[in-house]
Amino acid sequence: MLNGKHILLGITGGIAAYKCAALARLLVKKGAEVKVVMTPIARQFVTPLTMATVTKNPIVVDFFDPENGAWNSHVSLGMWADLYLIAPATANSIGKMAHGVADNLLLTSYLSAKCPVFIAPAMDLDMYAHPTTTRNLETLKADGVHIVEPESGFLASGLEGKGRMAEPETIAEAVDAFFEEKQDLAGKTVVITAGPTYEKLDPVRFIGNYSSGKMGFAIAEECAKRGAKVKLIAGPVSVKAVHENIERIDVESALEMRDAAVRLANDADIIVLSAAVADYRPATMADHKIKREKTGAMTIELVPNPDIAAELGKMKKDGQLIFGFALETNDEQFNATGKCERKNFDFIVLNSLNDKNAGFRYDTNKVTIIDRDGSITPYDLKSKVLVAKDIIDYTIKKLNK
Ligand code: CTP
Repeated sequence: MLNGKHILLGITGGIAAYKCAALARLLVKKGAEVKVVMTPIARQFVTPLTMATVTKNPIVVDFFDPENGAWNSHVSLGMWADLYLIAPATANSIGKMAHGVADNLLLTSYLSAKCPVFIAPAMDLDMYAHPTTTRNLETLKADGVHIVEPESGFLASGLEGKGRMAEPETIAEAVDAFFEEKQDLAGKTVVITAGPTYEKLDPVRFIGNYSSGKMGFAIAEECAKRGAKVKLIAGPVSVKAVHENIERIDVESALEMRDAAVRLANDADIIVLSAAVADYRPATMADHKIKREKTGAMTIELVPNPDIAAELGKMKKDGQLIFGFALETNDEQFNATGKCERKNFDFIVLNSLNDKNAGFRYDTNKVTIIDRDGSITPYDLKSKVLVAKDIIDYTIKKLNK
């Protein structure tokens, strides 16, 4: 997909810069033309000679060439690029980007770039977890910058945690996927449930769960990008749906989610059950705030909620494809296979809580697809955006069988 695309690769001064030769090579192999702009410190981690050899283009670092005064124009670099990829992006450069600081050519190129910008953060775990970094990344996200999430593992500091730059393959795949404009879901309607449900106890309290809705929303964006009309039934979440093909139906409780899903299911070609539906709700909702009792424990009676997936599984029409998710802590494959059959899914996507950085609240996920035909397909730990792409690729293969 990168054939003929112009990628401007910005390298900032972090140890992960040594991986940029491999990254540039992957982009070149995928057909891209790559030019490199480096911060002065990045030169100490990977040499301009290495990068120039891999990309077959001269590297720019300074605003002008001290030998002959030739001007390196950040404006023309920005105009040339179809995509600007900054990898690794250090905490320092991320901070500068978020605040409009323009004290090197990499940053002036960022400010003048009109093309999409991707960054692959890389730093020590504490720097990554610092509220300042979180704030700066949020600012960049809000400015439309795409973030290729860092991974967890051993860091240059000797510590272990999240902050390691995503592998060159993951970054190259994210860039590639961005340019991919398959419309292989054109004409299809997809209904998706996502996020948690809140079951009210009284006007100010509820029983809920940690689901962020990110996985379901990523699937919604992927389907919409590929041409589907998407109806996204969302529990209470802060994540936003962006694509114009997505119609969002906001609900709060399992009963509201069930009503919306049953109403929309009949017109769906594909149904995705990714919501973390509360299995039980309080038998009654107090119409006033429940007061603390002076003594003794409090008991809340719970009644079962409908199993939305099982209901839709029973209503399933010929040619309709339904899949759901299973989050398991033990006997993962056995439990997931049972769920898949009970709910009449075509396949089930298994998240294991035993996998680090996967599942609830994380931006990354590691899944295994268990199919009714008995096949099992494991995937690597990836950003939820790339996991959504894998799942939809699988869905389409299955639809076309
Ligand atoms: N699901 C649903 N409605 C429910 C419960 C679950 O639609 N009331 C869907 C979920 O969206 C998911 C799948 O069913 O796709 C499996 O969810 P999970 O909570 O793992 O299944 P349960 O049947 O509730 O099993 P468990 O006993 O493990 O909670």
